[in-house]
Amino acid sequence: MSASTTPEPPIKDKPVIAGLVPCYAKLQLGKRYLWCSCGMSQNQPYCDGSHIGTSFMPMKYVATQEDEEVLFCNCKQTKTGPFCDGSHNNLPGGYAEDDPNSEKNKAIVEVKSDDNPLTEVDGGCYVFSKERAKMQQKGNVKHARIISPSQGAKYQSQFYMDIAPGLSPQFWFTDRHVVLFITEGEAKVHIADKIFPVSADSGIYISLNESFRLDVSKTLKAYLSVCSGVEDITFDESPNNYFNQNMPIRVVGVDAEKRQSMASRYFQMLVDKDIGSDVVTQFIGHIPQSKSQPHRHLYEEALIILSGEGMMWTDTKRTAVKGGDVVFLPAKQVHSLQGTGAEGMNVVGIIYPGDNPSINY
Ligand code: FES
Repeated sequence: MSASTTPEPPIKDKPVIAGLVPCYAKLQLGKRYLWCSCGMSQNQPYCDGSHIGTSFMPMKYVATQEDEEVLFCNCKQTKTGPFCDGSHNNLPGGYAEDDPNSEKNKAIVEVKSDDNPLTEVDGGCYVFSKERAKMQQKGNVKHARIISPSQGAKYQSQFYMDIAPGLSPQFWFTDRHVVLFITEGEAKVHIADKIFPVSADSGIYISLNESFRLDVSKTLKAYLSVCSGVEDITFDESPNNYFNQNMPIRVVGVDAEKRQSMASRYFQMLVDKDIGSDVVTQFIGHIPQSKSQPHRHLYEEALIILSGEGMMWTDTKRTAVKGGDVVFLPAKQVHSLQGTGAEGMNVVGIIYPGDNPSINY
């Protein structure tokens, strides 16, 4: 990105804001890139020497893979330089709202759902209604597939589960990450000889090569994510006494004190790097009655709508969503989610690979 006028030099240690959207780049393996940290370069996001005479220095990054896709910070407020950490969202104008009634948006066709549980929007994005899904059953576990590789997902799967009281069969997903979110009920999660009580609004992480059971005391309703993706839930009664001792915390609950704001929206991390999960991330968030500007992420995302009503937009189509639906978003799909009711929407997101749901471009 290049600025049209020469920016003012930075004041002391305050960089110039070169832009409010990070810069997407595809890098060459082994090539050295010099990211501008002062914000004055005319060749953003790269250094052009304009920092000379200031306290700023460019930051070097050497690409670790061919065609590595990155988002270089343009607002220069990031704490994870040279890459975006979402700081631009909280700068004035950084997370602009969109007018759902603009002429451009009025021309976007609304897709109506039918008997099929899956409503395609476009670009691989779809909305899944568990109410219209056909459930399978194994023991006390009724389950329906929501997201899988055969439905276009590259990185993750998701299943809805309704589990009657009692001990479930043993779930087993080999060397995959497993993340659960409980919407109703009470249970104990058994991983080898460790037992974790869970209830509504619990986020749960199961590490690679661990199997688990759910001992349900009050009918459980839950969403199960498996990364990388699988077509079906697999059960295996073989003994497996493995528990990853490096990750002792497995259940994270809702805590208003831990909310992070993102303009008029907020979110709280549940399963994330704080408990040792650094490629799959789960968060709970709130979307007020508003529509964000269309944007993209480099990660693939599943968004569980917990409550409220809204509209899922891509740049060519839109469809209505409500509590209980799941939105699947492929990486880099342009989208925007609108809360249409006065109470807004509460959502749970699962992103993979990614560790920060506020990074968008
Ligand atoms: S021009 Fe900004 S760091 Fe070099």
